[in-house]
Order: sequence, then C-alpha cells, then structure tokens
Amino acid sequence: MRSVLVGSQKGGVGKTSLVAALGALAARPQPGRRVLLIDGDQQSNLSKRNFGMPGDGGRDLYSTIVLGEPLQPIRDVRPGLDVVSGGPALAMVAGAAANAAAAGLDMASHLHTALDQVNSLGEYALALIDLGPGDVALLDAVLAAVDYVVAPHREDEADLDGVELLIKRILRARRDTNPTLTFLGTVAFARDPRATARNASLDAAVRELLRGSGVEPFIAAIRYSPAVARDARALALTPQELIAEAEKATSARISMLRRRRTRGQQTEPGRRLGPPLDDENTLWARPEASDALARDYLNVLGELLERIAVAEQVNATATGASAG
Ligand SMILES: Nc1ncnc2c1ncn2[C@@H]1O[C@H](COP(=O)(O)OP(=O)(O)OP(=O)(O)O)[C@@H](O)[C@H]1O
Ligand SMILES: [Mg+2]
Repeated sequence: MRSVLVGSQKGGVGKTSLVAALGALAARPQPGRRVLLIDGDQQSNLSKRNFGMPGDGGRDLYSTIVLGEPLQPIRDVRPGLDVVSGGPALAMVAGAAANAAAAGLDMASHLHTALDQVNSLGEYALALIDLGPGDVALLDAVLAAVDYVVAPHREDEADLDGVELLIKRILRARRDTNPTLTFLGTVAFARDPRATARNASLDAAVRELLRGSGVEPFIAAIRYSPAVARDARALALTPQELIAEAEKATSARISMLRRRRTRGQQTEPGRRLGPPLDDENTLWARPEASDALARDYLNVLGELLERIAVAEQVNATATGASAG
C-alpha cells in the first residue's frame, strides 16, 4: 500500500476534491486493489459532503492518532473504497500533542503503526489522506506516517506560500520522524485551460519555488469547473458519477421542454436552458463538463502513480548501490 498526503498549509486549494475524486477513480473492487481514504479534517468535508457519510465525528481517527488504536475504516463507501471519517473530535489532537510527551504518548508513531497494520492485511493498493488547513499537530502526525506528499494550489500567490510552508514541514519530518518521506510535486487546481500565458507564468513561479529540489510541477492539472464542483458536493457524487446524473438531468430537461412546447408554453426568449428551480436536486453541471473534469482527475491519477513508480525505482537503485 502506498500512502499519500494531499496537503497544503493553505485552505481552499482543492485538497479534499482531489482526495475524493482520485480515490474513487483508483478504487477497484478486486483483491489487493482497494483504496483507503482518511479524512483528517475537523469539518469532515470529504466524508460528509463528498461522500454523504454520517461518519463518527472523527472519533476513530482521534483514537488512532492519540491513543494508538487500530484504524477502523467504513467499508465500501463506493465499490472498493473505504473511508475513515473526519469530524470535530480531531480538534482534540492539538491539545493531546501539547501534552503527549508528559503523558508518555509517541503520537508520531501511532498513525504509522496503524497504517502498517492496515497494509499487512494486503487489501489496499493506495491510501489517500486529506487534512484541514493549518492543523499542524495532525499534519506532523501524518507526515511521520505517509510515504508521499502531493500539494495542490490555485492561482493565488498565497497558495504558493501554503506549498512552501508544507515543504518546510516535510523537510522537518524527514529529519525527525520519516527519513524516506517523498514530495512528489504540485498540482495546479481550478485552472483555466485557455489562459495559457497566465498558466505558464504560474508554473514558472512554482518551478522557482521548487528549484534545487529535483521536484517538478505535475503536467496534468484540474480545470476550473465550478458547476461540477458545486453539484459534486450538493449531491455527494464524484465528477465521474456526475456524468451519468447530468445526462439523465439533460434528457429530463429536454423532455420537459418538449412537453411545454406541445402544450403551447414557450420558454422566455434568452432564458438559458436551466434546470427547474423548484427541484432541490437541481443539477447545474453539463455532462460534457463532468466528463472533462473526470478526465483531468484520471490524468492526475496516472501521473501520480507514474511518479510513485519512478520514486520507487530511484529508491531501489539507491538501496542497491549502497548495499553494493
Ligand atoms: N474544478 C473546480 N473548479 C472550481 N472550483 C472547484 C473545483 N473543484 C472544487 N472546487 C471548489 O473549490 C473549493 C475548494 O475545494 P476543496 O474543498 O477541495 O479545497 P480544500 O483545500 O480541501 O479546502 P479546505 O482547506 O477548506 O479543506 C470548494 O468550494 C469546491 O467546491
Ligand atoms: Mg478540505
């Protein structure tokens, strides 16, 4: 099992959206190919909003991190996809971290041990971890435990500060708790594919930030697609799942318009072919937009897995060389 933190010290940069969509795409209902998601956010956006789970308020994850209890994921939130839910209980991690040494707790090793236990079951190929912004006690516990880190950012200059702070934390974790922790790169999130010059300038700023580290920004990016993002959270569906729903909604809309026409009712001129406003399950996303966004996530997933494979090759060569 490879474990990956999708992290940033900055809020609202796409961490949760990436974990949800990549996790659902990577999950395969086959032995040894399951995916585990860990929602380490007090707000539990991932478990509650993206997957519509009631969850346990973060109690299970709190017990793992603070007390060293095993993880107990909720099974089959989607086929092949299990989730440890987040929630307000995680607010207590910071207090526990402050008193851990006095209480004789080695919090840095708890999540690591729990992930090793899960790994020894041999069920999972991948674990993706989501965190809320700014929760440094949790971040350090996760950085002590995971194999890899990926950092999304949007266009705001401050997003790059979030990446920079995270890199500093990664370097500290490598020194103190997790010497093989590997930073895989940055992912541009909510990017306008047509703004090529602006994107190139942002990429240059990211490259400058990463200079000397040997790490490159991801080539694959997630496009700006607010309607799909809104529908995904409102209906607790992934972009991939939204394609079919949006197709259904489109055909329902077309047949409604046909019925109106045959009854002699006209849509007002210039009014966009929008969904009926009285329907609380209104879908705003067009199927093509859901499809395009789902393909972006698939490309990012492909690049993520490639980068993991390359990192492992480099590690194996280094280990072989030092053994030789
Ligand atoms: N492709 C997209 N285009 C535009 N907006 C998007 C897209 N995908 C998601 N969003 C929106 O961007 C916002 C931030 O996304 P998300 O919650 O994934 O970020 P986050 O880093 O997890 O935030 P937080 O730090 O608050 O946990 C959300 O409102 C989400 O609906
Ligand atoms: Mg989030």
